[in-house]
Amino acid sequence: MEISLEDRCIVIVRSFITAYFGHVPVQSPIWNNLHDLCIKYFAYAAHTQHDLKATRDCLSSQLTDVVEHHELTRFPVSPKLKSEVAHWMKRVLDGDTTSNGNIEFEEPEYIFKSFERNHLEYVTLLEENRNIIGHGTTGLTSWQGAMFLTDWLTKFTSFLTNQRVIELGSGSGLLGLSLLRSFGMESFIFTDCHVKVINAIINNLQLNFPSDSSTKDLDPAELLEQTQIGPHYVIPEEKIRSVSYHQRIGHCSTAVQHLDWLKYDVSSLPKVDVILGSDIVYERAFLPPLCGLIQDLLKLSDAMDPTAYIACTERSFTTLDCFNDELKKHGLSYAIISKGSYSPTETIVNSDVSHQATRLYRIKLTGNLPQPERGLF
Ligand SMILES: C[S@@+](CC[C@H](N)C(=O)[O-])C[C@H]1O[C@@H](n2cnc3c(N)ncnc32)[C@H](O)[C@@H]1O
Repeated sequence: MEISLEDRCIVIVRSFITAYFGHVPVQSPIWNNLHDLCIKYFAYAAHTQHDLKATRDCLSSQLTDVVEHHELTRFPVSPKLKSEVAHWMKRVLDGDTTSNGNIEFEEPEYIFKSFERNHLEYVTLLEENRNIIGHGTTGLTSWQGAMFLTDWLTKFTSFLTNQRVIELGSGSGLLGLSLLRSFGMESFIFTDCHVKVINAIINNLQLNFPSDSSTKDLDPAELLEQTQIGPHYVIPEEKIRSVSYHQRIGHCSTAVQHLDWLKYDVSSLPKVDVILGSDIVYERAFLPPLCGLIQDLLKLSDAMDPTAYIACTERSFTTLDCFNDELKKHGLSYAIISKGSYSPTETIVNSDVSHQATRLYRIKLTGNLPQPERGLF
């Protein structure tokens, strides 16, 4: 079936929105792919004898509209990205295929990234820019596993409906924030061990689910100021182990609390039905305590069928083999119930990293042996 010029334009604008509000640097493959799409779009317009100038004007005004009027413009894109994208647009619209010159700009440390997840809803994160490790943690940027687990759970929403859910190593909170929009959970607990990460989750929760009217319609200038000074601390370092943050989101009672896999008190663990984790299997030394915690949570649960779902991007097969061994040593049985990968245009998290496959573990206490279900892959 022939795709109309209008539909081609919609695809370009949608990809543009994804890359622009996901704060993907213009050096990334996503922008090159988008550039190729635009060239094909103009070639198709010429082939079908459309007025080329009118076609360019139409695309130009649509892309400019995104930058100036899209609903997400209340979360400011950094001046550097905005300027780079303006250069990119000029090159594309001028039909210039030469490389982009270097643009010197001070990038603010904190920026907004908005991800489209869950039926065209956006999750906005105020987080550190691009760096994979910042302030001694990997938790201030989002990882592919969070996207993979969100996308997978979107197909199996009933697994979480009315369930008590805990997430281990939540990072900036992309997974939980996506699930809180539409999964009807009874409760959701974000956890992490890092003070900055915990405060980042709280800030991101307030950003996505403003709880009182005073924070609801923040002035963009006020938000911009927040990005310049960085997220504020809701819980100070000295109280991070003893104080947790609570917010009711719809029917779901939501909490953010400190939970260190290496040092926790079993008697203070909550009773949950489902345990989630994404991209938390990477440091071999952490695998025994992490598996110990999963075992403790599953044993403590009073649910009919307590289950953990852990999404792991396949960066090191040796590490994943160690994880498999540790699970068995801790009396846990597992099945890999889904596996998939994203193309550079589909995933925008950690866009400087090449895109490995992600696998999803379903883990239960041995005795409740999980069988892969038909249709889950
Ligand atoms: C690679 S990041 C993944 C973050 C998030 N789950 C995602 O997919 O975007 C790993 C996370 O595990 C957390 N983490 C590492 N060691 C931990 C520990 N001992 N206890 C609790 N969290 C830990 C880090 O702070 C970080 O947020």
